[in-house]
Amino acid sequence: MHSIVVLTGAGVSADSGLDTFRGAGGLWEGRRAQDLATPEAWDRDPAAVWRFYQMRRARLFQAEPNAAHFALARLERELAAREAPFLLVTQNVDDLHDRAGSRPLHMHGHLDRLRCEGCGWSGVDRTHLDPDRFVPCAACGRERLRPDVVWFGERPRELERIERAVAACTLFFALGTSGNVYPAAGYLALARSRGARTLVSGLEAPENLGPRDEFRAGRAVDVVPGIVDEMLRGLGNVLREDHGVK
Ligand code: OAD
Repeated sequence: MHSIVVLTGAGVSADSGLDTFRGAGGLWEGRRAQDLATPEAWDRDPAAVWRFYQMRRARLFQAEPNAAHFALARLERELAAREAPFLLVTQNVDDLHDRAGSRPLHMHGHLDRLRCEGCGWSGVDRTHLDPDRFVPCAACGRERLRPDVVWFGERPRELERIERAVAACTLFFALGTSGNVYPAAGYLALARSRGARTLVSGLEAPENLGPRDEFRAGRAVDVVPGIVDEMLRGLGNVLREDHGVK
């Protein structure tokens, strides 16, 4: 029985108009995006971090899922119908996979949610988008909620579950990710070391690409639907045989 894990990164949402972290989006107010995505930046200059995230939140609410998101949702549906193990893990904090019909694990959290560092409240918020005004916590009155995302130095979510699935998978895809933020960047090597077939795609080869990995260059909207078609065609026989359906 095949078991598939797909890891996605910012490149998959780039074709929906959302900036990647290290790509052409470049600097924001003279700073690198990854320097704003830290608890230290939030402590030192919460107004700048808030403006940055409010800009990203506003863009997200204008964006739509693209052909790559829809293709991965189709893969998930078709595999579920065959009861084949499948897990979509995303580093993306946008909800475009979810809106396309997938049920991903968001290891870096959610841009459409806010969270209170005081009382722990968290919830969906798509209405407060003013870049210059913090949102107070309605539950405990704390002055400002933070984006419900994982920042550098914080622990990504669902790590045990993800690592178990990656270690056990027979097919691993890494799509639209630069492969330099750990622990996510380590999953390709983990899957490879356990004998999984590994397929990687993005505009350019990521830093963690190994000689045994298959690499397809291109934009996610052009490449991912083809990969999904190919997988479903290729897996069709294997999965049918596993279920005794001839
Ligand atoms: P990056 O911005 O590091 O990398 C984006 C990748 O997508 C690059 O490899 C690009 O070549 C590729 N890419 C760009 N446009 C593309 C397109 N149209 N189609 C396909 N690929 C394209 O983003 P991530 O790897 O997702 O974490 O970054 C990982 C994590 O680092 C993020 O989740 C974030 C971060 O900074 C936190 O905030 C904790």
